[in-house]
Amino acid sequence: MTTRKALMAGNWKMHMNAVEGCRLAADVAAQCRGYDDREVLLAPPFTILSEVSHALEGKGIITASQNVCWEEKGAFTGEIAPNMVKDAGCSAAIVGHSERRQIFGESNGMINKRVKGGLAGGLLIILCIGETLEEREADRAFTVLEEQLRKGLDGVDGGQMEKIVIAYEPVWAIGTGKTASKEQAQEVHAFLRGLLGRIYEKDVADTTRILYGGSVKPANVNELMAQPDIDGVLVGGAALKADSFGSIINFQ
Ligand code: PGA
Repeated sequence: MTTRKALMAGNWKMHMNAVEGCRLAADVAAQCRGYDDREVLLAPPFTILSEVSHALEGKGIITASQNVCWEEKGAFTGEIAPNMVKDAGCSAAIVGHSERRQIFGESNGMINKRVKGGLAGGLLIILCIGETLEEREADRAFTVLEEQLRKGLDGVDGGQMEKIVIAYEPVWAIGTGKTASKEQAQEVHAFLRGLLGRIYEKDVADTTRILYGGSVKPANVNELMAQPDIDGVLVGGAALKADSFGSIINFQ
């Protein structure tokens, strides 16, 4: 049986100044019980990536940027290059978050460039996908997810998949307090794993981690993590407080 190490990720979005972020990072580190079956990741805003990475040195917590550009440098106002992310002490980047897709108009094509650029720069990429409520109600969720996954991973070969983590985040569950039920989430995760098996090989499908995100909190993390195809969580709101994120990372 394949064992996939759980990844418990906190996305701070556009929250936290340097002082608050370093304090939260230290408080989260203090909550880690050193389980070896899971990893913890924090994604602070760009401005404090260095400070937070520095504050976490030697604590075994991964830091990630919330986006990454495909270019190495140049006239790309508002963007951040893979080397800049690494220079700030991070080893990972989130790509394709639904807020980037919905609010800032990022397309599957652009997200695919970010995935490939981040991989070329040596980063672990968390590729987010998720359907809207409208798409779910129109019975289009699986079609949309398949398109996002296939287009997001276009040109990524099986060997590179060890540096990819997929995050399933139904848009209707993000920041709304509405979580997908454990059955709904498991159904999608199993579908995505099957799809990875068709795009790549079974061993890629078996080893790729698929996270769930969308109103994850201490009260629902245990039942989500008990699902066979849920390999971790991507947490927004509940990651902004050390006690709630602490309970999430210490799920049973
Ligand atoms: P939420 O956000 O936990 O606040 O729903 C999740 C996310 O956007 O990654």
